[in-house]
Amino acid sequence: MFASIENIDQLNDFEVQFLSKKSEIGQISKNLKTCSPEEKREIGQALASFRDEFTEAFAKKKALLETEMLNKRLLEETIDVTQQFPLEKGTLHPISHVQREVERIFTSMGFEIADGPEIESEWHNFDALNIPASHPARDMQDTFWISKKSDTSHENFVLRTQTSDVQIRKMKEHGAPIRLIAPGRVFRNEDVDATHDAVFYQVEGLLIDTNISLAHLKGTIETMLSQLFARETTVRLRPGYFPFVEPGFEVDFSCALCGGQGCKTCKNSGWIEFMGAGMVHPNVLRNCDIDPTKFSGFAFGFGLTRLAMMKYGIDDIRLLSSQKIEFLSQF
Ligand code: DAH
Repeated sequence: MFASIENIDQLNDFEVQFLSKKSEIGQISKNLKTCSPEEKREIGQALASFRDEFTEAFAKKKALLETEMLNKRLLEETIDVTQQFPLEKGTLHPISHVQREVERIFTSMGFEIADGPEIESEWHNFDALNIPASHPARDMQDTFWISKKSDTSHENFVLRTQTSDVQIRKMKEHGAPIRLIAPGRVFRNEDVDATHDAVFYQVEGLLIDTNISLAHLKGTIETMLSQLFARETTVRLRPGYFPFVEPGFEVDFSCALCGGQGCKTCKNSGWIEFMGAGMVHPNVLRNCDIDPTKFSGFAFGFGLTRLAMMKYGIDDIRLLSSQKIEFLSQF
């Protein structure tokens, strides 16, 4: 009797028609109370067995219809797993490009790449670098302070202002000789404009060994810049003050755009201010348990963000953190 039923809706109609209160069976059940006890028993039993049979048959038919429906859907809803969607390919950030290039050049000269935490202890960021709390050099590197007052420590933490902290960590960890660069993000309390941001990238360099002189520093930096700009680049050293080196220098390089002739970029001087450097101060070596009578060496620090801006001619630092696709996809 189910043979002509083709789908669940029809089956449900069929159930209503035969088993609901309004159906003939329903009517018979309703009228049962007017029957004699014998009739009630006889008809009641017949009704019950009809209901049982019907319910069972109904369930079977329902399962069958559902399986059929599912099979039909599976056939209709095929997924082509080999279909390809056009994917937008990302590009490296300009800072990453320059960082990789700088890392490649320094590793080829035997430098290791070192890393340190961005939330740094006051000691690593300042004191160990010969910048005690009272030192005016702290004013130039105002930063974001995190005071940690636990039971065991009253040490303050800062968002590091320079990657020079990594020198300290690595010298303490490995002693001398040591040769590393530490690229990384630093933070300062700055008024943000086209050339200043509160977050930017630096590269610190450190080489400690025996018989190291400023000539090694000059040669290392000239080699790095000549490779980076793919043209012969020279550097000049001017006296400069940084508490963690003695003597300290400001380092300029010959303008890569005009080759030292003078142009807009180098303000017609032929030179571009590049970084701070010097011979590591004996106090710093002692703070890191290295004997300054046995070992010496140089350190330097330059702005990776600035270098990327120079290399690509980016004139607004804010673009670098803007997440503007039209800007970023150029690199
Ligand atoms: N850390 C310095 C800064 O952020 C840069 C610097 C200068 C690093 C001289 C050095 C150095 O290692 O010798 O201004």
